[in-house]
Amino acid sequence: MKILFIGTGHMGSAILEQYANKNKDNEIFILNRNLENSKLLAEKNNVRYLTDLTEIKNIKFDIFIIGVRPIDCAKLFESLDEIDISNSLIISMVNALSIESILNSFKNSLNLSVIRMIPNMNAIIGKSLTSYTTFGDNKTLLNCGLEILKSFGKVFEITEDKYPSFVTLTGTSPAYIFEFLKAFEQFGLENNYDHKFLKELIAEQIISTVENWKNNDKETEMLIKEICVPNGSTIAGYNVLLKEKFLETVMKCLNASKEKC
Ligand SMILES: NC(=O)c1ccc[n+]([C@@H]2O[C@H](COP(=O)([O-])OP(=O)(O)OC[C@H]3O[C@@H](n4cnc5c(N)ncnc54)[C@H](OP(=O)(O)O)[C@@H]3O)[C@@H](O)[C@H]2O)c1
Repeated sequence: MKILFIGTGHMGSAILEQYANKNKDNEIFILNRNLENSKLLAEKNNVRYLTDLTEIKNIKFDIFIIGVRPIDCAKLFESLDEIDISNSLIISMVNALSIESILNSFKNSLNLSVIRMIPNMNAIIGKSLTSYTTFGDNKTLLNCGLEILKSFGKVFEITEDKYPSFVTLTGTSPAYIFEFLKAFEQFGLENNYDHKFLKELIAEQIISTVENWKNNDKETEMLIKEICVPNGSTIAGYNVLLKEKFLETVMKCLNASKEKC
């Protein structure tokens, strides 16, 4: 099959890198607005690049992976539809863009299949949690599409009404988790720790705490209480989180994201 990645920015390039490394059977092409970006990525991942969208008139692509921002979608879909991409599969990672709105953008192109998916940036290490929904009955194309999704992490099939909350928990949350990590990093740097050692220390601490939480039957509240002994140093810090409404702030953050998904 012939696969075209359109828009290989932060997310598109993360996915491309994982898939290109694992792919054996399919021909991969990329198309970017910035040609230099395309040349560099094509060389790095051993794939081909197009210089212009009109080139697809001469190459029959089976799968289009859409990695442009929401604001660039309408124009791109209009151009693709003018060229006519009937019988192909569109894999869209565009946030908040439903399958219905994707299909409504195509008037000339018939018999389209669609996979709506939302990956997250952990795709860069092959550990995305990707939600997806499919449309269409071309099993060969859809199965090939799902193989692409599986190449960069775990996949979860969900109904479209679940996107806002699911995408908040999986797609957008790495940014909030990074912000949390940033506080530990900043504290360590202020206390003169070597950066490399600091990263290892913080990562080990977070990973083991999460493992403990995941495998523990106790309520999260109880786990906190067991560490926060009266008059100790932990509760001194924890009281600051309560006073500054840490939990409420994170909940506000998650709800704001959900509103936009
Ligand atoms: N970043 C995330 O964590 C994340 C998570 C889940 C879903 N997504 C979705 O993934 C998509 C991309 O996000 P991103 O963070 O990767 O954005 P990004 O870094 O801005 O990448 C978008 C890329 O698309 C290129 N582009 C725009 N219009 C194009 C066109 N007509 N033809 C070819 N290339 C075009 C842009 O080129 P220029 O640089 O020239 O503008 C840019 O390189 C978005 O729809 C977003 O909702 C992102």
